[in-house]
Amino acid sequence: MLPTREKAEQILKEAQGCNPGPWGDHSRVVALCAERIAACVEGMDPEKAYITGLMHDIGRRFGVKHLGHVYDGYHYMMELGYDEAARVCLTHSFSTGNIEEYIGNFDISGEQQKEIEEALEKISFDDYDRLVQLCDSLSGTDGAVDMEVRMGDVKRRYGRYPQSKWDQNLALKKLFDEKAGRDIYEILPPDSKNPARGR
Ligand SMILES: [Fe+2]
Repeated sequence: MLPTREKAEQILKEAQGCNPGPWGDHSRVVALCAERIAACVEGMDPEKAYITGLMHDIGRRFGVKHLGHVYDGYHYMMELGYDEAARVCLTHSFSTGNIEEYIGNFDISGEQQKEIEEALEKISFDDYDRLVQLCDSLSGTDGAVDMEVRMGDVKRRYGRYPQSKWDQNLALKKLFDEKAGRDIYEILPPDSKNPARGR
């Protein structure tokens, strides 16, 4: 089950009140990008893409956390009965399927990490999981940025970026270029604050 578009927007707005930050606008850009791409892919529902994109980082409602936001978002959406959004809260950070490649602090207990790993094992990624992983990697707070520039920024900030994750993000871009029948950058809103775009 998913919240309606209006309900999801309300949930995000409330959450931003709990933990203000650029993550709210980033979530809106991910939603918009996911919606636009899904609209070009046969068989995908742009509304579902928008709503799952909008909710992917909702765990940030509970404070500034790294892996904790995945755990918190998953639980929050499950508690509200929105299992399809909960799933994307869980899958969006693990494009390679390997939790060890998470970039950031492992700020949850061993037990909580085990819970995430077990939930992930039961899921085989579908196109909505993949689409939000893709859009997360190319969305700034104002529009789409060049994915490689963004990954380079992350690499500088955290001192590492697993090559397999880098390659997987490029593969996701290629996959959706093919599914959408065009270079997806052509249909995404540019980030006016960060004009670096896809080539
Ligand atoms: Fe996230």
